[in-house]
Amino acid sequence: MNTIETIFENNKAWAKEATANNPDFFTNLLSQQTPKILWIGCSDSRVPANQIMNLPAGDVFVHRNIANVVVHTDLNLLSVLQYAVDVLKVEHIIVCGHYGCGGVKASMNDLQHGLIDNWLRHIKDVQRFHTNELTNIKSEEERFDRLCELNVVEQVHNIQNTTIVTNALIHGQKLNVHGFIYDIKDGLLKDLQLN
Ligand code: CO
Repeated sequence: MNTIETIFENNKAWAKEATANNPDFFTNLLSQQTPKILWIGCSDSRVPANQIMNLPAGDVFVHRNIANVVVHTDLNLLSVLQYAVDVLKVEHIIVCGHYGCGGVKASMNDLQHGLIDNWLRHIKDVQRFHTNELTNIKSEEERFDRLCELNVVEQVHNIQNTTIVTNALIHGQKLNVHGFIYDIKDGLLKDLQLN
């Protein structure tokens, strides 16, 4: 477990290494950021966007929430999306879910978890949209895995249907929306091939 002291020690070592590899690393980032990717992922500590794609600071614009949900009225997410698409002109939006997602798991039962149940309602909606497919999966583990994937499918639809993305595409902006799923067991990303 990290202590606050180790955070600062690690930070100094990281900054030193970054400039050892490229003396202009921080000066290049000083004037502006030019990421080509917007990442929408889960808040889960095991799914850190830059680390799992092995990309440095400056390469990924990030929004994370519990279970990587795209809610039509979420002003936080919409602000991130608008800035990424309209100002930064990202070329790829990645919605990334992960197997073993605690948020998805919690939505699969009727136990109360408190305030978060209102957020998890969105994943219960995903289950309702795909009731037939999900009820035909007998193994609970496989049903859980599939719901993690279907949650990505639905959130990709939600991103594609925002005014921000539809208008960008109408105006011919180069923009692709992808649905990925990450496996905590082996650290590998899979493209769900939704586009
Ligand atoms: Co999660």
